[in-house]
Amino acid sequence: MIYAANFKTNHTRQSTKNYIVELNEKLGVKKPEDSVYIFPPSSALDVYEGNFTLGTQNAYPAHNGAYTGEIGVEQLDEFGIKTILIGHSERREYMAETQEKVANKFSFFQEQGFEIIYCIGEPLAIREKGFESVMQYLLAQFDGIDINYDKLIVAYEPIWAIGTGRSATVEEISTTHRALKKAINDKPLLYGGSAKPENIKEITSITGVDGVLVGSASLDAGSFSEMVLS
Ligand code: PGA
Repeated sequence: MIYAANFKTNHTRQSTKNYIVELNEKLGVKKPEDSVYIFPPSSALDVYEGNFTLGTQNAYPAHNGAYTGEIGVEQLDEFGIKTILIGHSERREYMAETQEKVANKFSFFQEQGFEIIYCIGEPLAIREKGFESVMQYLLAQFDGIDINYDKLIVAYEPIWAIGTGRSATVEEISTTHRALKKAINDKPLLYGGSAKPENIKEITSITGVDGVLVGSASLDAGSFSEMVLS
């Protein structure tokens, strides 16, 4: 299983350091087949020792240049970071990242050989229209995306389940993952949206779920490691 922690705009450099110390203590007994990813905010990127992969929540598709407020490959190289989240619904919504922009970013980081966790997800209004509309919406988020990229991991995150405390049901996850798995040629597929210690076992036992992308419940090293060790 893959367990990925997305801190979003939470944690400082110091609290990230403390977090990683605690995580390393707790994950000493993790199963070797499980892998852990940590995505701290950009200001907390660094070289950290531990049994996990450090990734960036975002970067601009350039090595360096005049892109005020952004970081590029040069800044990631400093810490040996080769993993990136692309297409998160919060960036699509609040940072107005269109499918075209997302696809350009994907192609750029693919060319750089990055491992990409590519996020897709539908809003509530689409879910309420039924499964066919959901799949149509989700598949459109693969426009311009090379689903055959060998370092691709997809994360299905229904927007209405993100940060709401209300995860999708087992049935919703199961049917959506089954259909998505076919569409992405069986690439690893994570579920995200209110995954937490209380529901982790239920979610990871669903066929077609290869792991989770966790926001809120990842902010505490104790709660996140409990999920990894579940
Ligand atoms: P959540 O966030 O776990 O707080 O719902 C998940 C995500 O946005 O990756």
